[in-house]
Amino acid sequence: MAADFTKGNSQVAAIVVAAGSGVRLRAGIPKALVRVGGKSLVLWAVQALAFGGVTEVVVVAPTGQLTDFEEALSFAPVPCLVVAGGATRGQSVANGLQALNASSTTADVVLVHDAARPLVPGEVVARVIAAVQDGATVVVPVVPISDTVRQLTTAGSAVIERSSLRAVQTPQGFRRDVLTQTYTQTDIAATDDATLAERLGHVVKLVEGSPSAMKVTNPHDLMMVSAMLEV
Ligand code: C5P
Repeated sequence: MAADFTKGNSQVAAIVVAAGSGVRLRAGIPKALVRVGGKSLVLWAVQALAFGGVTEVVVVAPTGQLTDFEEALSFAPVPCLVVAGGATRGQSVANGLQALNASSTTADVVLVHDAARPLVPGEVVARVIAAVQDGATVVVPVVPISDTVRQLTTAGSAVIERSSLRAVQTPQGFRRDVLTQTYTQTDIAATDDATLAERLGHVVKLVEGSPSAMKVTNPHDLMMVSAMLEV
């Protein structure tokens, strides 16, 4: 889809990574194309970002399925550019960032979001954007952990004091130049983007996330998301 990223200079861009195979979901199609409540997960995710203030999106899709994603996003509320992903999440983010930087965008705030978190509330998205606009370079939404957590050790296992632990969600927010610098590193192996930025010395600011931003990984998670949409 042709994306027009030329409006104004209060633009906020997002990279939505959706190029995972989703084998653990056992749906037979890419996870982000699975439909709940009449819409694909990737459309729910883009709508949530737009609701929170994102004005343009690069969606990173599995190679060979770009047309299916363009169709799934044909009624998206903001311009979406669909590009091919890579073998790892980090490579997919790098591909999305390269496409964003090659576009006409004027955004200096960029969010990176998992399509697998379709129901992130707009208020969480807005909180992440506001924190970057207020001067933070790297922003991460987090939630407290309600389970007791044990770490496996050589001797067996040990409890970790959960009051000091937080689970990390997306969208993660970045000043665009910081995200670009982050992805110039040769080692981009990490489960999230803030960790990579932190390796370069950037301070990670935490903001409040939401249980609704849960990640869809297995069939049970999909049932949870369907149930949340019916309430
Ligand atoms: O595998 P995991 O649950 O960590 O994936 C998180 C997000 O990263 C998902 O939205 C998935 O589609 C995306 N991803 C990707 N490219 C990959 C692997 C995962 O865009 N090669």
